[in-house]
Amino acid sequence: MNIFAGSKMNDDQRRVELYRGSLFVHAPTSGALKLCELAREIVEEAFRPFDPRAIHENLAAEKCAEILAVVKPKFIHHPESKKYIQQMLVEAGCDLSKTYFDVPRLRTAFPGDYLKSGIAYAFHPHRDTWYSAPFCQINWWMPVYELNSENCMAIHPRYWDRAIKNGSHQYNYHKWNLESRQNAAQHVKVDTRVQPRPEEPVELDPQVRLVCDVGAAYQFSAAQLHSTVPNTSNVTRYSIDFRTVHLDDVRERIGAPNIDSACTGTTMGDYLRGTDCSKLPDEATAPYFDGTEIQYTRS
Ligand SMILES: [Fe+2]
Repeated sequence: MNIFAGSKMNDDQRRVELYRGSLFVHAPTSGALKLCELAREIVEEAFRPFDPRAIHENLAAEKCAEILAVVKPKFIHHPESKKYIQQMLVEAGCDLSKTYFDVPRLRTAFPGDYLKSGIAYAFHPHRDTWYSAPFCQINWWMPVYELNSENCMAIHPRYWDRAIKNGSHQYNYHKWNLESRQNAAQHVKVDTRVQPRPEEPVELDPQVRLVCDVGAAYQFSAAQLHSTVPNTSNVTRYSIDFRTVHLDDVRERIGAPNIDSACTGTTMGDYLRGTDCSKLPDEATAPYFDGTEIQYTRS
């Protein structure tokens, strides 16, 4: 696995590398720092007078889940969050007229067993392509507060080209949106929602734990196997992630290889153009829709 830190490579070359399994780490930029600051403001306001990183020592898990159920959508739909992503993409050398992004998510990883399902889901090893993401999807991930190696995220490079028996054949993105997404905050202790997961033992090592500065970001292919590191640090981790696709790759069906994903449906309807937040053109996304969306679309 190649890890490019502070690379000046242009975006076209960079995507080729990402589709080969490379990682990119970007130094903090102004847009990225503003996005992190917005997340901190929202989180700190919601948890005041407590330090959001020590909330597990001050609030019952149920109360914390209730607050997060308000905080997370507030960040996702905040008008400034899209603006800062657009700025961040320009700063990273992306062509905004052809780069489409989805709204940013705010994630949490709490120490121990405090809260790790539903609204604060601790992600088991997975590929986003098991969740109906296209193979040209690129993930961007950034810490909101100072990160350490015990509360970050891990990538499991052994599985870049090695298949795992998994439950993705049961997953349909449109079905998930209709039935499960709204219920996240109800799953405080146990998450009963069906998610694609490995169905055989996974060798988590070797693993790459990228620890970067606040405002720094890393990019990896949606086909990388990745997971939430069990948080043994006693500090809650808050992170932001979002995804992009490039119109040329959508059209040409260029992307990472499909090793073991068998889900149906597609997230292609979610991405917004960098310039004006318009959706991908229908002619470009039509080949990705397999007909399953129809039965799960509310009339
Ligand atoms: Fe993921």
